[in-house]
Amino acid sequence: MPGVVIVGAQWGDEGKGKITDLLAQRATAIVRFQGGNNAGHTIVRDGEEFKFHLIPSGILHADKMCVIGNGVVVDPRVLLSEIDGLKRAGVSVGNLRLSANAHLIMPYHVLLDQAGETKLGKLSIGTTRRGIGPCYADKALRLGIRVQDLLDEKILRTKIRAAIEPKQQALRELSVQRRKARKEAGEEAKGIEASDLVPDPRLDVHAMVEEHVNYGHRLEPHIADTAKLCWDALDSGQTVIFEGAQAALLDLDHGTYPFVTSSNPIAGAACVGAGVGPADIDEVWGIAKAYATRVGAGPFPTELHEEIGERMVERGHEFGTTTGRRRRCGWMDLVALRYAVRLNRMDSLAITKLDVLSGIGPLRVAVRYRSKEGAVLDSFPYHQSILHSATPEYEELPGFDEELGECREEADLPQAARDFLAYVSEFVRVPVRLVGVGPDREQTVWLDS
Ligand code: IMP
Repeated sequence: MPGVVIVGAQWGDEGKGKITDLLAQRATAIVRFQGGNNAGHTIVRDGEEFKFHLIPSGILHADKMCVIGNGVVVDPRVLLSEIDGLKRAGVSVGNLRLSANAHLIMPYHVLLDQAGETKLGKLSIGTTRRGIGPCYADKALRLGIRVQDLLDEKILRTKIRAAIEPKQQALRELSVQRRKARKEAGEEAKGIEASDLVPDPRLDVHAMVEEHVNYGHRLEPHIADTAKLCWDALDSGQTVIFEGAQAALLDLDHGTYPFVTSSNPIAGAACVGAGVGPADIDEVWGIAKAYATRVGAGPFPTELHEEIGERMVERGHEFGTTTGRRRRCGWMDLVALRYAVRLNRMDSLAITKLDVLSGIGPLRVAVRYRSKEGAVLDSFPYHQSILHSATPEYEELPGFDEELGECREEADLPQAARDFLAYVSEFVRVPVRLVGVGPDREQTVWLDS
């Protein structure tokens, strides 16, 4: 401490929300630094369940400042509905701050993400269809709309016009193609179709400006220079937690491209996405499940298609918080985890959902891959084709049948569970300091390592 980054060490959905919520007890501020409402975290506290997509996990602590940093892409409709939901549940949002520099997910981003996904056909990435990719693309194209633009109607109108202009043609073409394809297939339109875009009331500039000015009025009390808020907290020795969304293997640069998200969920991105320097980061926590899951398409060497995978889905309730999609499940992949450890230079690991492995044993962990030519691969291959065809080789470890939900101390864990954690820790050379044994905040074991 005081600058602590928390990141996902696999393909997302590791249970970062719960760990952030726990570590937040020692912090003054919790800052999200990338991603958008493609993320989703569920926090269970005293049996009450809270689901967030955009708002940082720390919001349940009234005395902490919760920051949505400049690196996040914000759908204002989603943010406002989360704010309203929290208010209804009696949770104060007076401590929520939104970076004036964060980019906005606009209605055309969502429509383009949905239309683009369908168009990719066989190569579909399986995005969450929330407009994340098109929004980050506009940011890089210098066609993005930022939170601060909501506060100036004239600028907002000019920028929306400029952003929509180059998209009209593509949307029209897409619409014609899709209409033709549907007609040939004799299909009726289902859900949101690209043809909805021409003409689409959601793309009417006048209406969009009016709607967004209104969002600006509602969000104004939260809009701030959030980088400065972080500096002030760090400079006075207070602890700031930088909360990542998604995870290392979904990183735009270092993940399994193109089956990745459009931002950088690794620890280094906390600096860019919050506006702090590398020297402000004192500690990096990686969060990994005791097995592995992935939603959407892309390579997943340890994926299980048989009964054990089904049991992980059932016992671990492996359905996405954001899209409800069934997650693909498999054994813990230590080759991939060691890669994530290095990318993030992790200091500590939290292993979540260890309870899910009860009764599944013997347990397996991937310790190397073998290429289709028979070469042994000890490290995560940089070449996508090699990864696609690599097969994992496993170390088998004794399983345990005891239910872990009531364990609160290391000594409560069965020996086989402790041996499993020790094996993981030694393999990746990072201490496992926290273990999740159930969804509730209390269902946690701190290890002395
Ligand atoms: P996008 O982030 O919606 O563009 O989706 C790109 C890829 O990242 C897809 O495979 C998604 O399933 C995956 N993805 C995005 N957010 C999450 C998350 O929070 N958990 C797990 N996978 C995610």
